[in-house]
Amino acid sequence: MPSHSAKRIAVLTGAGGGIGQVLARRLLAEDYAVALIDKQRPDYEVGAAEEGNVLRMAADVTDGAALRDAARDVEAHFGGVHVLMVNAGIGPSGTVSQTGAALWDGVLDVNLTGAFNTMQAFLPAMRRSQGVRSVVLTSSVLATRGARNMAAYGASKAGAIGLMQCSAQEFAAEGITVNALAPGPVQTPLLDSLPGDALAELEKAVPMKRLGTPDDVASAAVFLAGPGATFITGQVLVIDGGLSGRAYWRDA
Ligand SMILES: NC(=O)c1ccc[n+]([C@@H]2O[C@H](COP(=O)([O-])OP(=O)(O)OC[C@H]3O[C@@H](n4cnc5c(N)ncnc54)[C@H](O)[C@@H]3O)[C@@H](O)[C@H]2O)c1
Repeated sequence: MPSHSAKRIAVLTGAGGGIGQVLARRLLAEDYAVALIDKQRPDYEVGAAEEGNVLRMAADVTDGAALRDAARDVEAHFGGVHVLMVNAGIGPSGTVSQTGAALWDGVLDVNLTGAFNTMQAFLPAMRRSQGVRSVVLTSSVLATRGARNMAAYGASKAGAIGLMQCSAQEFAAEGITVNALAPGPVQTPLLDSLPGDALAELEKAVPMKRLGTPDDVASAAVFLAGPGATFITGQVLVIDGGLSGRAYWRDA
């Protein structure tokens, strides 16, 4: 018998990262049991009462077989999958002129092929589960807005939106929604490579005058995964404090 006390089951990749850790805690607070997946087994603490609702796993999203094993283990342990948060990602910079094959392949492998592998591994268990079911991919505002030195990253995140839109059509008739989040800059280790003054400049450029927080992203993810969003599918929800909507050339 599956052993957990939660109402619904969620799977989260990139669970050890800045957004992942906060999202995991939010999902537990919302009464999900959560399978935490990252390249290294995520070992951070959750509340003692919640520990029985957590399954910690190591899997590289570029390894489809490892993800299929993980999916089998999650289904055996928790009894199903309702929510899939496709969140693992890397964000190295590079212009089109400078990006070598290794960087290009590495970013596409994790951010796009990894998202595909994750969905292909876990969707069969979701189809066997009942009730509200949803996939939420973490894309980026860089999928639809250009940054001169983020060629591979922007392409991978745009690809993830294409993947999301096609799978939203594929699974709509079964009641499984598939949507994407498009965060602007969020204060996490992913931004560590930016120099301090670049972060300050970025903050100033955001109409709300701050960077996003993992909580901002988690709130949107929980909404899209939940019972209030069951007729929303194939959409991109932007979480950027107004940044990508800003006509900066007309600002006073
Ligand atoms: N932080 C931002 O500004 C920002 C903005 C837009 C989108 N995003 C996206 O949000 C998601 C989470 O990013 P974050 O900000 O928490 O960054 P992060 O670097 O803190 O976390 C990313 C996590 O993904 C994991 N990961 C990387 N490669 C993996 C692999 N091959 N297999 C399994 N796990 C792997 C890492 O170990 C890490 O725990 C990413 O997809 C990122 O592209 C972040």
